Amino acid sequence: MPARVISLLVGPTTPPLWLGVVVAATVIAVETVVVHQLDKVAPHNAFGAVFLLGVLVVSARWGFALSVMTTVVSALVYVYFHLQVEGTLIPTKAGDWVAVVVFLPVALVANLMAGQARLRTAEAVLRRREAEASRDELAILAEHQAALRRVATLAARGASPPEVFTAVAEELALWLHVVNAVLLRYEGDGTGTLVAVRYEPGIKQMPVTGDRIPTAGDDVGAIVSRTGRTARIDNHAHVGGAIATRIRAEGFGSIVGVPIVVDKRVWGAAIVGSRRTEPLPADTEARLGDFADLVATAIANAATRAELIASRARIVAAADEARRRLERDLHDGAQQRLVSLGLEVRMTEASVPADWGDVKEQLSAIASGLNGVSEDLRELSHGIHPAILSKGGLGSAVRTLARRSAVPVTVDAAVERRFAESVEVAAYYVVAEALTNAAKHARASEVNVALRAEEDTLHLVIRDDGVGGASSGAGSGLVGLQDRVQALGGNMQITSPLGQGTTLDIAIPVAGE
Ligand SMILES: Nc1ncnc2c1ncn2[C@@H]1O[C@H](COP(=O)(O)OP(=O)(O)O)[C@@H](O)[C@H]1O
Ligand SMILES: [Mg+2]
Repeated sequence: MPARVISLLVGPTTPPLWLGVVVAATVIAVETVVVHQLDKVAPHNAFGAVFLLGVLVVSARWGFALSVMTTVVSALVYVYFHLQVEGTLIPTKAGDWVAVVVFLPVALVANLMAGQARLRTAEAVLRRREAEASRDELAILAEHQAALRRVATLAARGASPPEVFTAVAEELALWLHVVNAVLLRYEGDGTGTLVAVRYEPGIKQMPVTGDRIPTAGDDVGAIVSRTGRTARIDNHAHVGGAIATRIRAEGFGSIVGVPIVVDKRVWGAAIVGSRRTEPLPADTEARLGDFADLVATAIANAATRAELIASRARIVAAADEARRRLERDLHDGAQQRLVSLGLEVRMTEASVPADWGDVKEQLSAIASGLNGVSEDLRELSHGIHPAILSKGGLGSAVRTLARRSAVPVTVDAAVERRFAESVEVAAYYVVAEALTNAAKHARASEVNVALRAEEDTLHLVIRDDGVGGASSGAGSGLVGLQDRVQALGGNMQITSPLGQGTTLDIAIPVAGE
């Protein structure tokens, strides 16, 4: 309470002069009445000090000139009413002179001190405002950095561009306090697609996410598309085009847009708008630009990633095709030749006279040898391309692999469904390599293979109880599997703590039947 009164008395600003005059007059009148009453109670005391109060009040708020005036008037009134100088303003008695002579300098000193206090207060208030302003600026900067960091983290995690777009629109709206933020992708045919839109409640006329809008008018989106530069419109009163009409109808004041540049091409624009009357702050362009750069990076990254996956898929498909051709060539060529050679030898053996025992035996051995080579070749070609897959499907191929494995294998594969060939081949090779590794490296006593198909994903888990310590960097098998699985848009996780066995966890997306 006392602090409030003091701050009212000693304020940093100067109220209007007329108010000062009114206050001074009122205070002097009140003081006169008070002193008059006091005089009745104690007629022999001089109450000049009471008039000091008014001088202080005025000098605290209205500066030197008015307070000097108040001092003089106070002195005159004091003399007139209380020193019993009837009908004159000039004191006649020596005692009265003393009172006035004491009053004036005391009042003037009080004036000066109050003036000082006023200046100090004004200075303190100014300082506080400056401090507050710089604190606000810091807070905004920190908020900006935090928003950028959130988007950057999302982009770095490999989030899809639509996810990044939505996040950017949200962050822009939040951070700029504009609540209207739009990401626009130029289609190169005089239109743009809104890839993310965030409006404040109550906006109805504006297009929404997914809409195509013309980029032929004079609105910010159109200007950025035409010039590839930052654009700002603070007043839409005379802006042409269909979009500008809608912008006007929604009562937008200031709109700022910056280009999103990907591979030196203007990919689109980030645009924010305000429905307040004052223009968006001058640094809006720069801050918006930071977000546009992040969006550009996310788009470029996604494109690179998509290209990488596509090229992996091409490599894997080419390798599979080469294997299949080799298998076919072996089967149709070398293997057929071996079989017919074997038959010829058998025929020759049959036509040899019975007493040529040695020759007969040798021919028989050659025939068996040829048969063996043919068998070997068949096994070999099965290893090159899993023909068994095309016949019995993934479930039975996995069971066959399990039967051939050197380590005992349990299989949970209640999957009769067929998948795309590339998916089945990948799953087959994963199981084959995992079983080979379990036999070769793990010293496992058992392996479990679990195959589970969901609507759109094939899950494959292969677990052994061996020594652990598998890592895909150490050899060529696991790396190849990873490539294969990732080429199909899937992923493979290797969990292999030392002494606790190895688990391969694979998920491959499958597109329907
Ligand atoms: N099931 C497993 N148990 C223990 N170690 C394994 C297992 N699988 C793989 N490893 C280890 O990880 C390395 C990489 O495996 P891989 O890529 O299949 O290469 P490769 O089998 O050709 O050596 C292996 O050399 C081996 O040391
Ligand atoms: Mg291996």
